[in-house]
Amino acid sequence: MDPKHKDLFDRLERFYDAVPRDAARIEEYGSLVLFVRDGAGWPFYARPRRDTTGPPSLADVSAVRERQRELGLPEAFEWVHETTPDLLAVARSAGLSVLEAPLMVLDPAALPDPAALGGVPVRLLDPAAPGFAADVAARRAVAAVGFAAAGTERSEAGPAERDAAVTELDVAALDEERARIADGRRLSALAGTPADGALASGMAMRVGDVAEIAGVATLPVARRRGLGAAVTAALARELLAAGTDLVFLSAGSEEIARVYLRVGFRRIGTACIAEPAPVLP
Ligand SMILES: CC(C)(COP(=O)(O)OP(=O)(O)OC[C@H]1O[C@@H](n2cnc3c(N)ncnc32)[C@H](O)[C@@H]1OP(=O)(O)O)[C@@H](O)C(=O)NCCC(=O)NCCS
Repeated sequence: MDPKHKDLFDRLERFYDAVPRDAARIEEYGSLVLFVRDGAGWPFYARPRRDTTGPPSLADVSAVRERQRELGLPEAFEWVHETTPDLLAVARSAGLSVLEAPLMVLDPAALPDPAALGGVPVRLLDPAAPGFAADVAARRAVAAVGFAAAGTERSEAGPAERDAAVTELDVAALDEERARIADGRRLSALAGTPADGALASGMAMRVGDVAEIAGVATLPVARRRGLGAAVTAALARELLAAGTDLVFLSAGSEEIARVYLRVGFRRIGTACIAEPAPVLP
């Protein structure tokens, strides 16, 4: 590891460990910790424990997978390659398929003005605004349609598909989102026009002075107009203004990383995301 990045990777490790603790209980298996979410929501993953020196073993991975299956959770693992380099070979030997995602950190000096990207206004969701519940539902629907069309290509799906994907949020989920945005742990952004409604969305999770931007998605019909870059830039700008001095993200692929490069993010390493390899028919 590049020594000048050691402090940075330590801060990322503390962040990755802190985010799920807010909403999950923990179970430890050797050098791995499994986060089990309390209540509804996207399930968490297992990752290396911060307080052990040895790398996770094949037996640790097997123990976690058995527990994940028992709990009906995805057999998902996440870690930073530069911090836990030995886990890549271990995960592969366990039969997991590992996505090596570019891990990128914002250079604040390279952050463009979001208004100069795409020309579609981006707004941050305000939990006190009357339309908050509808905005949260729209953000989730845009993300569902966006992530269902992987990659960066344009295609047909647009506002009609977004509207069909809107689901009613339960009160607890909405209250949780409202509380997190109100105390600065979460940011949520939408880009769109009055005529078409929300076309792109994204969010950020923040712990102290570190934040991760995630879930950036643009409806396929609205891609390649700068909306993904504008949403990312607006979130990054707001995070910097709130005193966050380390803003990072992991890009789903090298081509997606180009979108973030234009917004001032620079690659510093690799985020590994592992799950069972698909079973071929
Ligand atoms: C990744 C994603 C969010 C990008 O959204 P987007 O709104 O198309 O992003 P941008 O328009 O800012 O950039 C996309 C491309 O359009 C180009 N572009 C931007 N404005 C443009 C314009 N006015 N004219 C032509 N091309 C333009 C960019 O240069 C970029 O090109 P590149 O792929 O050659 O680098 C979108 O493709 C998506 O939702 N993918 C599925 C979900 C996903 O994987 N999200 C990312 C998780 S890490």
